[in-house]
This record gives sequence, C-alpha cells and structure tokens, in this order.
Amino acid sequence: MIYGAVLAGGVGKRMGNAEKPKQFLTIGGKPIIVHTVEKFALCTEFEKIIVLTPAKWIAHTRNILSKNIPDMSRIEVIAGGDTRNETLMNAINFIDEEGNLDDDTIIVTHDAVRPFVTYRILRDNIEAAGRVGACDTAFPATDTIVRSEDGKIVTEIPDRSQLWQGQTPQSFKAKKLRALYQSLTDEEKDILTDAAKIFVMKGEDVEIVRGESFNLKITYPYDIKVAETILKGDE
Ligand code: CTP
Repeated sequence: MIYGAVLAGGVGKRMGNAEKPKQFLTIGGKPIIVHTVEKFALCTEFEKIIVLTPAKWIAHTRNILSKNIPDMSRIEVIAGGDTRNETLMNAINFIDEEGNLDDDTIIVTHDAVRPFVTYRILRDNIEAAGRVGACDTAFPATDTIVRSEDGKIVTEIPDRSQLWQGQTPQSFKAKKLRALYQSLTDEEKDILTDAAKIFVMKGEDVEIVRGESFNLKITYPYDIKVAETILKGDE
C-alpha cells in the first residue's frame, strides 16, 4: 500500500510571520498547503494522504482543504510532532493503527511548503521506493558549493558534478524507516534531521529521483514572491 504524508507540523520561524505558520499563507489566492495537497490528491496511487499540522491548526486545515478539494475521502488531518522526524513518525504510527503497516508499505513524505511538486516526481518516488526501499528527490547543484568548517576560511570546494540539492519528496519503506529511526540514540536523532540521511548513515541505498528547479521550498518572505511568479508563469 502507498501512503502520502504532507508534513506541515512546523511553525515557520524563518518566515517571521507570528500570526500563522507559513504553510497557511496564501499564494495565487490559495493557502500554500492547499496547492500541495491538491497535487497529492491527483495521484490515485495513494491509499490515503496524511496531512500533519500543529494540533491547534487541525480544524483550520480540514476547513481550508475541504473548501478546495472536491473528494476528501482519502485525506486525513492529524497532529504533527515537535521535530520533522517526529511528525514523520506520527504518520507511520497512523498507518500502523489502520492495520496497513507491512514490509512493503511505502510512504511518500513531502514538505507542505513545496507546492510545485509534480505528478512525475510523485510517480518516480513511488517507483524508486518500491524497488530500492528509499529515495530522495534532488536536483543537480547549480552553484559551486563551498565548504567551511569555521564559517570564515574555505576548507574545501567539492566537485560540483557530484553535488545535488536535496528537495522532497523523500520516500521509504515505512516500516523500515521507523525501525531505523528507533535504533538511533537521542543525540543521533537530534543530528539526523533528514530522513534520507538516516538510511545513508545506516548503509542503506537511497536512489536519487530527479527533482525540478521550480520545486522550491518556501522558507523566507522572498520565496513567497518567487512562488507567485512561478504561479503566474503557469497561467
Ligand atoms: N515540519 C513538520 N514538523 C515539524 C517541523 C517541520 O512537519 N515539527 C515541516 C514544515 O511544516 C515544513 C517542512 O517540515 O513543511 C520543512 O521544514 P521547514 O521549512 O524547516 O519548516 P519550519 O520548521 O516550519 O520552518 P522554520 O525552520 O523556519 O521554523
């Protein structure tokens, strides 16, 4: 079985909007999270689409989604966790409680604040996670990446042809992801903020699914302007 998980449990500190988390800000006349869930809803492969938000935003999320999505039967809105990984675990636990967590259950996890994910990316994630067990959407690095250990002096300039920018979705065999996460110490859990990295650190293969340059994550106020421009280009 294949589940979608739209991760919207964050508060968007870097956006600096105290009123509401950034996933509820509007672009092109609709909240960002609505754009994202709409993309998932078009993908009939998903048994269910689990949307995880801070507890006090659950009712609001249900409300805005039901105003925009004609068929809400596959959509579940539940509480996220204190960290992104804990939010992800809440999604896997939900699947478990439904009695659908077996070795082949796939979870396609995605940042709610990446509204430009495409059907092609979702489908490629499902295919790669099913075949390999884990995959990460990434796009070839366009900037030269400079490494510095102290933030002052350049330590290394890695070969750009080997560098990719990580995006989402990241997709996994859900049961295995939970087992690997639970095997981490609390310190490791603090460091391993990226779910794909958990697989990499444990020596498991993670296949790259090619992302898109426009599959941006809305993090800072400037990104809202870029997102509006991308939407205008779609019209
Ligand atoms: N996220 C989540 N649960 C958390 C923290 C983050 O589901 N406890 C989600 C966010 O809602 C977002 C995605 O993970 O869709 C990517 O994280 P990021 O851009 O860092 O979001 P925030 O944590 O909200 O932003 P900030 O770091 O600026 O506070």
